[in-house]
Amino acid sequence: MVGFTDLLAGACLLPAVYGASSSVASSTSSAPYHQFTIPASVNYGENLIANIDDPQAVNAQDVCPGYKASGVQQSAKGMTAKLQLAGEACNAYGTDVDSLDLIVEYLAKDRLNVQITPTHVDRHNASWYQLSEAVVPRPKADKGATAENSDFEITWSNDPSFSFKVTRKATGDVLFDTTGTKLVFENQFIEFVTALPQDYNLYGLGEHIQQLRLLENQVMTIYASDIGDPIDGNIYGSHPFYLDTRYYEVDAEGTHTLVSSSAADQSKDYVSYSHGVFQRNAHGQEILTGTDKLTWRAIGGSIDLTFYSGPTQPEVTSSYQISTVGLPAMQQYYTLGFHQCRWGYQNWSVVEDVVENFEKFQIPLENIWLDIDYMHGYRDFENDAMRFSYSEGEKFLDKLHASGRHFIPIVDSAIYIPNPKNASDAYDTYTRGAKDGVFLKNPDGSTYIGAVWPGYTVFPDWHNPKSVSWWSNELDIWHKKIAYDGIWIDMSEVSSFCVGSCGTGNLTLNPAHPPFSLPGEPGNIIYDYPEGFAVTNSTEAAAASAAASSQAAAAGDGSSGASSTVSYLRTTPTPGVRNINYPPYTINHDQTGHDLAVHAVSPNATHIDGVAEYDVHNLWGHQILNATYHGLLKVSPSKRPFIIGRSTFAGSGKWAGHWGGDNYSRWAYMYFSIPQALSFSLFGVPMFGTDACGFNGNTDEELCNRWMQMSAFFPFYRNHNVLSAIPQEPYRWASVIEASKSAMAIRYAILPYFYTLFHLAHTTGSTVMRALAWEFPNDPSLANVNTQFLVGPSIMVVPVLEPLVDYTKGVFPGIKQGEVWYDWYTQTAVDAQPGVNTTIPAPLGHIPVFVRGGSILPMQEPALTTREARNTPWSLLTSLSSQGTATGKLYLDDGESLYPNATLSVQFQASKNKLTAMARGNWKEANPLSEVTVLGVTEGPHNVTFNGQTVPGSDVNYNATSHVLSVCGLQAMTADGAFSKHWTLMW
Ligand code: NOJ
Repeated sequence: MVGFTDLLAGACLLPAVYGASSSVASSTSSAPYHQFTIPASVNYGENLIANIDDPQAVNAQDVCPGYKASGVQQSAKGMTAKLQLAGEACNAYGTDVDSLDLIVEYLAKDRLNVQITPTHVDRHNASWYQLSEAVVPRPKADKGATAENSDFEITWSNDPSFSFKVTRKATGDVLFDTTGTKLVFENQFIEFVTALPQDYNLYGLGEHIQQLRLLENQVMTIYASDIGDPIDGNIYGSHPFYLDTRYYEVDAEGTHTLVSSSAADQSKDYVSYSHGVFQRNAHGQEILTGTDKLTWRAIGGSIDLTFYSGPTQPEVTSSYQISTVGLPAMQQYYTLGFHQCRWGYQNWSVVEDVVENFEKFQIPLENIWLDIDYMHGYRDFENDAMRFSYSEGEKFLDKLHASGRHFIPIVDSAIYIPNPKNASDAYDTYTRGAKDGVFLKNPDGSTYIGAVWPGYTVFPDWHNPKSVSWWSNELDIWHKKIAYDGIWIDMSEVSSFCVGSCGTGNLTLNPAHPPFSLPGEPGNIIYDYPEGFAVTNSTEAAAASAAASSQAAAAGDGSSGASSTVSYLRTTPTPGVRNINYPPYTINHDQTGHDLAVHAVSPNATHIDGVAEYDVHNLWGHQILNATYHGLLKVSPSKRPFIIGRSTFAGSGKWAGHWGGDNYSRWAYMYFSIPQALSFSLFGVPMFGTDACGFNGNTDEELCNRWMQMSAFFPFYRNHNVLSAIPQEPYRWASVIEASKSAMAIRYAILPYFYTLFHLAHTTGSTVMRALAWEFPNDPSLANVNTQFLVGPSIMVVPVLEPLVDYTKGVFPGIKQGEVWYDWYTQTAVDAQPGVNTTIPAPLGHIPVFVRGGSILPMQEPALTTREARNTPWSLLTSLSSQGTATGKLYLDDGESLYPNATLSVQFQASKNKLTAMARGNWKEANPLSEVTVLGVTEGPHNVTFNGQTVPGSDVNYNATSHVLSVCGLQAMTADGAFSKHWTLMW
């Protein structure tokens, strides 16, 4: 092992590596920090390429021997075998493991697990890392599961080397097939390859900004990265899970033939089968989507694949969550209201103005957020005494809370480490943590010190048994000073602005400023505007463009950002030694030089149990969410914690929601919000939203108008903006005020529906935001529809995703099978043809929303806060199917308790001119029912009765043209609460 001091000589060889956390950091860079972490053995390549792009890089499939299975033991529950290296070790990107254990286990009828691990596990020489079951549980097994009752069959072969095949018994379709490929298993490189059908439909493998259906010939890197949302690059979260949907044409004889979704023909009949695959691996990974195969690489860990048979997406997703990663957290009711945030609210009175403006313009506001501006020297858990004093904060929060609103501050992941020579620089949070030894170390046992916003920082070590209680305590102490309602966790990849332990031995040199200019500082003035701005605001656009050019010229552009002169670094495999900072295989990580240590804590940072950060990097963000969840329970033991986190891992949904990170104020990013949200539905993180109006760059009126409307239908609805960009609260433009209010009026009316969807997600693993293909699984033409989406099963949103148009286009799924869609605004059935991308009028300020026939939506009245909305009378929007039927559900409780002692579940059912509501539970819903609207009533009613009592004609309105029946004046008959007893409405 090379010591730190030995490495100082190499320190200057590295280029400036302070890449971008978004545009925030992409500008002027300098490299004031020393490097401590470069092993003597690293190679300096000449090109900025990862192995994947390197023509010289060896193809492990060509040179490695694969394995042969022996000692195979079959049982009713599965099989075990030894896999021995089938020839001379190739040591392509590490040291080949001679002997592996194969364990195949039928976990349940719908789940099969294949595990391949080294036979000799020596955790302490760190040649191989076994993922902790306490942190990432293995999938649960059902007691009676056997091969015989499984949906799957697994077969294997030794010809020419070990391979296996997973087949769906029902169709005979081979779902996973490594035949003819080699298994490569080295201490720093794992590779397996599976065949896929032509033109496959895969989804997931996040986190990326990309279209919903994965493109072919992509390299999908999984490595938590602090970077401003590059398209197709690896970003904050790690979700090694995919959904695979296969469509079959069914002919008159009932024969199924696999078809390409692009060949969908509305005159034919299809069915689909979906399955899921989860690779329980937390290392850096790369998944290559070939035209007919998937190559999966990891730079450590093991193979631990679970297959979920579905055969529908809802079944796959539910099983994945229930058996493996955990069901998502139930959200408090208020979290579904609107959230306003920005980087750059400079003091309490600015924040107060923002809240007042929402009131002035009568725009709903539920939650006000603060970014790092409130902090004293960017230190967690300390307010700036001048600008955000606790005393003023208390007054502000008393008023805010009294109005039914909430406050969510940011908490960063890194902890400031003070200069020990400066007594006035003491920082209790650090002192208490240091006393408990809860911070990551260097390999030599000294404290690992990186740099983030406050200057030099340390990083909680979540493997330390004391770290969660220390973190919880800090949250609790701070809560006593400032009564926040939830926590926003940022920078949790975990980000560090310098490479290596740059502060070790340097504490007196604490950098006062991040190693890049902040947005708005000289040389980094934001001149970017959305795509249509040059047309709608040509004079301003021309001025901005000229200013941007002179700023770039002054910076001598080409000097900033990723430059072609940056070398990449890797090591040659050394037997028995792991090169963790510069592994032999360079994944296509999107930081400068593909360097794992850029914008992150170095892979050689060491946990208390000796585990290197290399092995658990992708879990840091997951574990801070767990710690924060526990912290919030310490603060309010009976309330559901509300947390929005940046870096997530499979299973983070059980503690937190997620926002899409540093997107751009661009139409393209508004579009990408949809597939990103839908992917997080698959990952079991339903509380998802992106920064409405865009984060990086300036927004404009048109984009903000459309985006505020679209985000109103996302589960998590927040407007957030980067430092120094033009303000973008919805009250900044007259048209955005109106557009936001009209979309929010719908959102707040259907809050009970959203809340019920969340409860279903929390209890059954269903999704809140849905792709059309998931609700209409037998229409291959929907396989890649991601420009429109569903909220639950019943609401379809077709947003405008481009500038300068007054229409949008969308398909109306299921029409061929008799599905009816009603326009939200006109309440009439849409006249659409199967599979036709229909033009839908959408002038600025109008978002097309449709209600699916067959649904009953419980609604309340829109209001400025969810508390007020919950105190309004109920109405039901019943949209009849073509058979004149509809169903719906409602779940209610106090909206905040972790274990509510009173709940109410209502089932609604309509058929044959009759609607019934059957309630179960002890939650007393005091508000009466005021109105029932029924869409699709083809014949005028003769006599309308509510529980046998005739409703006066003056309260009944039937429109024979639109086929809408409205029954009002029901308050008197439901004065003791809309659902206090079963009721029947007949017409
Ligand atoms: C990065 C986050 O992604 C962004 O939302 C936040 O505004 C900045 N950090 C500053 O805290």
